[in-house]
Amino acid sequence: MSAVGDLGAAALRLLDPETAHRLAIKGLALAPLPASPPDDPILRTNLAGLDLPSPVGLAAGLDKNGEALNGLGRLGFGFVECGSVTPRPQSGNPKPRLFRLSEDRAIINRMGFNNDGLEAFAGRLERRPANVVVGANLGANKDTEDKAADYVAGLQRLNGLADYFTINISSPNTPGLRALQGREALDDLLGRAAEARSGPAPVFLKIAPDLTPAEIVMIVEAAMAHGIDGLIVSNTTLERPASLKSAFAGESGGLSGAPLRDLALKALTHAAEAAEGRLPLVAVGGIASGADAWARIRAGATAVQIYSALIYEGPGLVAAIKRDLAARLRAEGFSTISGATGRRVDEPLV
Ligand code: FNR
Repeated sequence: MSAVGDLGAAALRLLDPETAHRLAIKGLALAPLPASPPDDPILRTNLAGLDLPSPVGLAAGLDKNGEALNGLGRLGFGFVECGSVTPRPQSGNPKPRLFRLSEDRAIINRMGFNNDGLEAFAGRLERRPANVVVGANLGANKDTEDKAADYVAGLQRLNGLADYFTINISSPNTPGLRALQGREALDDLLGRAAEARSGPAPVFLKIAPDLTPAEIVMIVEAAMAHGIDGLIVSNTTLERPASLKSAFAGESGGLSGAPLRDLALKALTHAAEAAEGRLPLVAVGGIASGADAWARIRAGATAVQIYSALIYEGPGLVAAIKRDLAARLRAEGFSTISGATGRRVDEPLV
């Protein structure tokens, strides 16, 4: 299946990126994919109370509307995050808004939260597969003045329908959204989210890679003060590393994929230092191999997510990363992922 899937991914790369994306989602929603084989038990892990068959998840933005949860689950992800969803449907930014930087193994997007809105999303989650851990990533409408109210609406409407929630305040393509990472706005948002949440689903906060170490420390403190259950580090970057070769490097929007890898790892490391093991961390940004995933786990991540590398490598990447992680755990004498989380090579095992 994965050879066929990888061939499909290669064919899709010949189309314009947004058409390819739409076709991939339709294909995943409709194709009768076989279930992926059961995961190696050594990969089973716990993320903020969620029982995951493996720590390798799908990052938000691929399935913005929750249309292909079944198919995505069958690709072998340990958890699948859909969204971002905003309360009201919106069309997003004018096209073109999605660019493949092939030479750089990267993507730039300025989609702008195009999605079908909370009601359609809730309807799809009501019919979701039961055997896949599904997260709902919440955003805010472009024209909403009180952005915090949109996250509250998401938490309330989707209560009981998702296994976890992500408050996404780090997309660069909605004016004012990243400003919610400032202390005052964050306290207001997280205070209201804490009041609005009910039920057992953990609530995560997704942050940008473009924060200073001091800002990351502040966000970790605020998250813990308001009972946030974990941080997702990170979203796309506004940086444009000098190494970029593609003609699309000057496009505005968020950059993801290989050039984001070091920045996202650095942000994760700062978050891990500030959290000191008190707040679970999910690593995302430029992860394209088992070695990348392992480096994030060693730097303090409990789980990882991928997106851009999937576009370049095809769905076989999920199984390859899981195989590699299981082998590294055994080779280094760990019996669980959590045992390896945050351990440096020079640290003793006990
Ligand atoms: C994204 N990402 C994203 N994140 C989010 O929280 N909500 C969203 O709606 C989207 N949308 C989105 C669209 C596209 C086209 C891309 C490429 C990315 C960000 C994504 O979840 C992830 O954080 C980054 O892409 C970094 O990971 P990778 O792609 O380097 O593995």
